[in-house]
Amino acid sequence: KKMRKNIVAGNWKMNMTLAEGMALANELNEILAKEKPNCDVVIGTPFIHLASVAAAIDTNMIGVAAQNCADKESGAYTGEVSAAMVASTGAKYVILGHSERRAYYHETAEILKEKVKLALANGLTPIFCIGEVLEEREAGKQNEVVYSQLAGSLYDLSVEDFSKIVLAYEPVWAIGTGKTATAEQAQEIHAYIRSTIVEKYGQEIADNTSILYGGSCKASNAKELFANPDVDGGLIGGASLKAADFKGIIDAFN
Ligand code: G3P
Repeated sequence: KKMRKNIVAGNWKMNMTLAEGMALANELNEILAKEKPNCDVVIGTPFIHLASVAAAIDTNMIGVAAQNCADKESGAYTGEVSAAMVASTGAKYVILGHSERRAYYHETAEILKEKVKLALANGLTPIFCIGEVLEEREAGKQNEVVYSQLAGSLYDLSVEDFSKIVLAYEPVWAIGTGKTATAEQAQEIHAYIRSTIVEKYGQEIADNTSILYGGSCKASNAKELFANPDVDGGLIGGASLKAADFKGIIDAFN
């Protein structure tokens, strides 16, 4: 039996007013309190919801995640939110390196390396996203791409720090497109990712690293995806915005 955690994490992205977000979080909290999940559950809310959501729900049952944090510790960086601020809300996780942040906000491997460091220094668990775009997949370069994303931001970490990381493989061509990676495609690249961790940090650390799949994951395909030996759950966008849809994915572990 595998030792690493199975995790279903929601990424709300830039959706939900505070009232809507609170309603969703409370609904999920109620549902899961009645029917304990067989995996760790995380919800990634917008920054401004973090404190209210974390105060309202049982954070031992549902972990709260930010979707980003600053690459600076504190100071004159107008509009930024630090890892320390995120942690001070009761959030335990931070999604870093999402392809939307890489593409639209120019987050480079170097910037992400700083964010990861600050997240870890503040006791947050990074959910670090990697994944190739369609042209890279069509050119058969997906392994190269994810390797350079891993090496560029994570593979300088100490063993102790790396052991705190959760990975999320999200093929960009599958995000919000309704086009999911097949179970075989997911398993193949997850196994590759794990093999690079073995090489860098050894078998035990690799065996303990959760690698989530993201990209048009929904209740109808979650079971098949999560049944793969190297797929340890999902990072869910669209289907995390309704409690029933999200619960359907969590139930893939029942
Ligand atoms: O981070 C989750 C995400 O990018 C996947 O989005 O809407 O395809 O589930 P979606």
